[in-house]
Order: sequence, then structure tokens, then C-alpha cells
Amino acid sequence: MSKILVTGGAGYIGSHTTHLLLRRGYDVTVVDDLSRGYRHNVAPERLRVLALADTNGLRRLLEAERPEAVVHFAAYIAVGESIGEPELYFSNNVGGSLSLLAAMSQAGVGRLVFSSTAALYGMPARTPITEDMPIQPVSPYGESKAMVEKILGWLGQCRGLRSVALRYFNACGAEPGSGLGEEHDPETHLIPLLLRAVRTGRPITLFGGDYATPDGTCIRDYIHVSDLAEAHILAVEYLAGGGASNAFNAGTGAGHSVFEVLRAVEEVTGGKAPFIMGPRRAGDAAVLVADSGRLQTTLGWKPRYTELREIVRTAWEFERRRPLR
Ligand code: UFG
Repeated sequence: MSKILVTGGAGYIGSHTTHLLLRRGYDVTVVDDLSRGYRHNVAPERLRVLALADTNGLRRLLEAERPEAVVHFAAYIAVGESIGEPELYFSNNVGGSLSLLAAMSQAGVGRLVFSSTAALYGMPARTPITEDMPIQPVSPYGESKAMVEKILGWLGQCRGLRSVALRYFNACGAEPGSGLGEEHDPETHLIPLLLRAVRTGRPITLFGGDYATPDGTCIRDYIHVSDLAEAHILAVEYLAGGGASNAFNAGTGAGHSVFEVLRAVEEVTGGKAPFIMGPRRAGDAAVLVADSGRLQTTLGWKPRYTELREIVRTAWEFERRRPLR
């Protein structure tokens, strides 16, 4: 049975991908320091609580497990927090990745699937976004991912590492039947915050209604987390089949405004999502929509969830069972 090491497998996208890898017959070991992930997302016998900074610990684990690839999620993800604490983001996201990469090269593990982000593109000049557009992040978070992508390029040249970077757009939704869903603390993402506004009646602040979009709110590409998980499995298979290093946008290609998401949330829940229109949030581009043609043609990926309401429904199934805080 093929072995895969998943870092950050106790987090949101990592736990969904681990779940799918297991269903597809992979033998998965999860490395997570539980600083942002949750123990309950991983079966205890699969979890190794280990910090990315522990290069020797990672090397020993890689030597013992001999995985065919590493799928590397472990990172901090909050754009706003990264502006307040850039050192934390560079240290954890870049330093942590370097430590992992050093352990991999010491242990002779040469394939990596990396969680990258649409935040690499900053404020792109046009949409939909293709992978060859300029990398010009506008936050330490985005920069930290851009730096790791650069490092991967050099390790490809110097060490023969083969890697796939998946540049996520707006991951959302859940696999509530498996007990998995979006749990961030604090939560900063639109869909879970809207669902909470419905449950509590406390208004959510929307960040700006004066963008140059049809309804004045920002447009994003919402991709279901299980479709994203599938992209990781295809990337693992691609590398196993000898595929060359590459970077792929991971989005559906459909854009939805904040108001459209709000309406979908109200339709799915049958409730009202109260909101206050606030000012723009620093660093938000008006429109971020993926051209995922490269992912579709090279890896054969196709999203199963193409309806925003279906995506929201899965998120609601998960959210409605959670205790309110
Ligand atoms: N939004 C609000 N109010 C909120 C939260 C979000 O109006 O309380 C709006 C944002 O301004 C944006 C949209 O909802 O227009 C989506 O915002 P999210 O915070 O859910 O997601 P982002 O698009 O900011 O960021 C996501 C990931 C990042 C990644 C980025 C890349 O969370 O990690 O997509 O596109 F970098």
C-alpha cells in the first residue's frame, strides 16, 4: 500500500484530504503540532504530534515511514494576522517548509504536493487568473507561499525534488457525514461567518460595497474542500507517474460576489443573515477567479461541486451541529 505523509492533516483542507486518501486506499501518517489543527480530525494511530521546525524528528519519521510523497499543508493562513505578525508567518510558513524540505532530502523523499494560494497574485490585472500571471503578493502570508514556491524551484534544480504547488482559491464547504468541516479560531472566512450570523442573529460586517463589480461587493472563486482534496490525490498520482514539477490554480472558474454568497446562505438556511456594510478590508482584490484549465488538462481534475448552494449546504450541515460560541 502506498504511504503518504500529510503535514497539517489535523487542519481544514488537510483533514479532508487525509480522509479521501484513506478512502482511496493510501496509508497515511499525519504530522501536526496541533497549534491550529484539531486532534479530533485525525485517528489517534495516524497522528504524530511534531513541529515542522523539528528537522531531525521529521527525518527520523520519513526514514521509518518511507512515504512515496509528502503532502504539505501545515501553515498559518490568516492574511490579516500575517500583516500584524509577519515574523510569525515567515518563520512558520517559510522556515517550517525549509525544515521539512531538509528532512525530506536527508531521508531521500523526493516528491511534494504543496498548499499554495491565489494570494500569490496580489491584485491581478485581469481575470480569470492563469498561472503565468505575475507573482506579486500584497501580504506576508502570500509572500511566504511565494517564497516556498521559489525554494521548491531551486530544490528541483539542485536536488531533483519534484513538486506540485496547488494555488487554492476560496476553499469552503465540508464533509459533514465524516465529521469534518471548517473550524478556524478565530474564524475569518465568509461562509462560516454568514452561517453564524444566521444562527446568532448578530450581524456580520461586510468589507466594502463600492468595488467595481456588478453589485459592488468582491467576487471570489469558491471551491469545495472535497474537490480540492481530489486535486491533491491527482497531484500525488501525477508525481508517482513521473510528472514534472508544476503549479496549478485550484478554483472552479466561477465567480460569486459577497452578496450572492449571502443570498445562497439565506436560501439554504431559510434564515436571515444580518449584516453591516463596513469599509474595504486592506489587501482585498475586487475579483479573484481562477482559470483552472491547466489543472483540468494536466491532472484531469473536474470539480464535482459547481453549484454555490450545494457547497453552502454542506457547510451548513456541519455548522448547524456545532456549539455556538
Ligand atoms: N468578507 C466579508 N466579511 C467577513 C469576511 C470576509 O465581507 O467577515 C469578504 C471578503 O472581503 C472577501 C470575501 O468575503 O471579499 C471572502 O473573504 P474570505 O476571508 O473568506 O477569503 P479571502 O478571499 O480573503 O481569502 C481566501 C483564503 C486566503 C487566500 C485567498 C486567496 O482565506 O488564505 O482566499 O484568494 F489567500
